[in-house]
Parts: sequence; C-alpha cells; structure tokens
Amino acid sequence: METDDNLVLEIQKSFFDLLNKYLPVNFLTNLKQKNEIKILSVGCGRFREAKSIFDYFKGCEDKLKLYGIDTSSELIDLAKKDDLILKVADASLKENYSEWGLFDLIIVRHPEITFNTDVFIKIFTVLSGLLEKEGLIFITTHFENEKESVKLLLKLLKYNVSGEYENKNSPSLSKDEKVLFVDKFLLIASI
Ligand SMILES: C[S@@+](CC[C@H](N)C(=O)[O-])C[C@H]1O[C@@H](n2cnc3c(N)ncnc32)[C@H](O)[C@@H]1O
Repeated sequence: METDDNLVLEIQKSFFDLLNKYLPVNFLTNLKQKNEIKILSVGCGRFREAKSIFDYFKGCEDKLKLYGIDTSSELIDLAKKDDLILKVADASLKENYSEWGLFDLIIVRHPEITFNTDVFIKIFTVLSGLLEKEGLIFITTHFENEKESVKLLLKLLKYNVSGEYENKNSPSLSKDEKVLFVDKFLLIASI
C-alpha cells in the first residue's frame, strides 16, 4: 500500500473518532429512530470522510443518504461512488439545495475561511436554513485561528456553538514545506 493510502486511512479513522467521541450520544440514538438520515458535506472535495460516516452509522447504512456539493468537477469525479449523491455547484447559493431538503448533520471540513472569507459567510448563512430541527453542523479546521474565525461567524449568524475541541491525534501532512494538521480543531453547532 502506498504512503498516501495509509494517510487517507489515518484521516478516515481520525474523522470517525471525532464523530464517535464528540457527537452527542442522544443525537445518534434519535437519528437511528428515523426512516431516513440525511448528511451533507459542503465543499466535500473527494469526500474522504464518507467512509468514516458510513462506519459511524454502521447497522443503519440503509437509511443513510449522503450528499456532497463542491464547485470542483475534478474533485467530485474523484469522489464519485454509487452510494453518494453529489453535485458540482456553488454551495453559497440556496437554490442549489432545493431538491435536497433539510439535513440532520452538515459537515464542513477545512473551509479555510481566512482565505475564503466572503464565500463562507454566504455558505454558513445558507446552511443555517438547511438544518433539521435537531440538526447539527460539524466543522473542522487545520488551525486554531481559523476555528476562532468560524466560531465568531457562527455566533454572528445566531448559531448555538455547543462544542469546541482540539483533536490531539490529528494526522499531519507536509504542504509547501509546512506541516498541515488534518481535522485538528472541531466546532459543533446548531441553529
Ligand atoms: C480546503 S478544500 C477542503 C476539501 C475537503 N472538505 C477536505 O477537507 O479535504 C475546500 C473545498 O471547498 C470547495 N469550494 C470552494 N468554494 C466553494 C463553493 N462556493 N461551493 C462549493 N464548494 C466550494 C473547493 O473546491 C474545495 O474542494
């Protein structure tokens, strides 16, 4: 197996651990009672976390509907699998979700909001209208300052931030001679 494959497995395991450790137990119990569990990944890229989500919902995969949206057709092509519902589209436009309805869980991994500020202000504004009543939004960042910026934005948009954590076991990779930690900081919020 290539090192890259090992890194992907490590990322998937780490993301599974975050879901398992930090999503409230009653959230999972309540979702298991539903006929359908709808999860959206925004800016999903290759949607590497899809495996972690299927693992987390082991035993009720048949109820699970996993949606992903990203502007990059190359990345969506890499994500393509029969069990995913994917769309190449701008996540900041409400109409791009119109046929999908509301979600129980919305995942936003690495919005890199300090670079993509304007678009993510729009995206988080739109997402606040896409959560089910008991729905949660689950956001991870590489850096603490990104996490703080997202938290500030969520509060301005009237989300209730219910969890804030540091992932001590976050996988790392080298990018542009810098070390980048994956899913290092986590925020959980509702509306
Ligand atoms: C930093 S990457 C994160 C990718 C993936 N979530 C991850 O953590 O590996 C940001 C992603 O957001 C996507 N993106 C940027 N602006 C977007 C928009 N307006 N609508 C949908 N996706 C967008 C990019 O194409 C890219 O895949």
